[in-house]
Amino acid sequence: MRRLEGKVAIVTGGGGGIGSAVARRIVQEGGKVAIADVFEESAKNAAEPLGDAALAVQFDAIDPASIEAMVNATVDHFGGLDILHNNAAMTDPEKHPQDTTPVDIPIEIWDEIIDINLRGYLLGCKYAIPHMLSRGGGSIINTASNSGVAGDLARVAYGASKGAIITLSKYVATQYGKQNIRCNSIAPGVVLTPALEATVPGLKEVIQRHILTPEFGVPDDIAALVAFLASDESRYITGENISISGGGLSHQPHYADLLDMMEKHLS
Ligand SMILES: NC(=O)c1ccc[n+]([C@@H]2O[C@H](COP(=O)([O-])OP(=O)(O)OC[C@H]3O[C@@H](n4cnc5c(N)ncnc54)[C@H](O)[C@@H]3O)[C@@H](O)[C@H]2O)c1
Repeated sequence: MRRLEGKVAIVTGGGGGIGSAVARRIVQEGGKVAIADVFEESAKNAAEPLGDAALAVQFDAIDPASIEAMVNATVDHFGGLDILHNNAAMTDPEKHPQDTTPVDIPIEIWDEIIDINLRGYLLGCKYAIPHMLSRGGGSIINTASNSGVAGDLARVAYGASKGAIITLSKYVATQYGKQNIRCNSIAPGVVLTPALEATVPGLKEVIQRHILTPEFGVPDDIAALVAFLASDESRYITGENISISGGGLSHQPHYADLLDMMEKHLS
């Protein structure tokens, strides 16, 4: 399918597991893509196999001027902007474990996560939307998470940032819909990326009991959804939050316990 022929996209966090799969898919569908990441090397690694259709851009989502420069560099290079996939999230392995509970989280960790994950998405919209308007419209896809829809035992800042991304997306959809800019959020559950497999040993086994599909999702599954939301095939979908999580939040809370009980009863 070449649904994105002639379109220009930005993928933030484009050097990561999900972002690099999305960038690949955009190019497969005929689009051009700026792969924007705090780590220049990973942006370059993701861009290199895609040739002239991809541009690696280093930026830091905590810095408003850097976000503006990243959007402008994309427009200067490709001549416009039609698609923004806000997808970066704070990944610092030393800071992540400090995102715990309201009582224990250091306030500077809260601020940094909210600034990168949430304010960074707002600023992406702030600088991208005027360029989209000048082209007659566009599509924004913001990566939230199932952690923004239901509570969890840790990561209060991450969860709050992701919940707010869902609301931010509805405001953008409402405020720019009549000008042909659509905005949706996507909420992945566990997606098997190298980063996830490395950082949380044992998580897969615990969560496997609670998803409805036989297998976990992979970055290409997210890329397929983003490509659809970026394309005109989804032209009547805006302001939605679409969960992509193997039905992880679609069932009764006792689902896995009942399955265990039934298995024991039958054995
Ligand atoms: N993998 C999952 O299971 C999962 C589940 C739910 C939501 N998500 C979300 O999907 C998105 C992509 O995650 P992923 O799994 O590909 O992880 P990842 O760590 O592979 O990718 C995140 C990318 O963001 C970049 N980044 C971090 N801080 C940045 C900054 N300050 N400025 C610019 N870029 C920065 C990182 O360098 C990295 O390339 C994130 O928003 C994440 O919260 C992932």
